[in-house]
Amino acid sequence: MNDKTKLANYLVERMTDVPESLRPKTVARALENLDTLFSGLRSLNLNGMEDLIKAIGESDFALANSVKHHAYTSGTLEHTIGVYEKMTKENTMGGSIFSSSELILVSLLHDICMASHPDWDISPDLHGVKSGDIIRRYTPEVGDLYPEAMFAIEHHGSKFHNEKMVLEHPLLSLLLQCDRMDADECPVGQYI
Ligand SMILES: [Fe+2]
Repeated sequence: MNDKTKLANYLVERMTDVPESLRPKTVARALENLDTLFSGLRSLNLNGMEDLIKAIGESDFALANSVKHHAYTSGTLEHTIGVYEKMTKENTMGGSIFSSSELILVSLLHDICMASHPDWDISPDLHGVKSGDIIRRYTPEVGDLYPEAMFAIEHHGSKFHNEKMVLEHPLLSLLLQCDRMDADECPVGQYI
């Protein structure tokens, strides 16, 4: 049995909250989403990224879900890719203000704090800030290379930004807009 089959079986066993008829599709999407996540992160060529990818693989990010939207096994991963697709589309329509690297970093890692890992101290009250801590821990130069992307990730939690901040930081504004749009597409009780 190869690693992909093992992972698929592992996901299927835990998808008890997803209606049985939808499980094969949801598992296939989860595997595809993991490929998109890891290849996107690798494309950033950041020192330490392989260690972060390894840690994400060890965490339960592939299974994680939010209680407010995408509230099913692997929902957070689904949402992550949804935000990535929406940010890319909106950026193109708006004249490509942001680099693809910024969009990849912001969208693919903004909710990494939703995963559990023995080395990660996760507090739901620090949503976003904890994602930033995790990213900085593995890729120390990320703050110098992508200051606005890290600012957006660390301030996207509802308690950590205000109107003025959003106006002054367009990448944060785009993340919030696409995060909301994607969350609204999958309210509690709905599956993709
Ligand atoms: Fe999000």
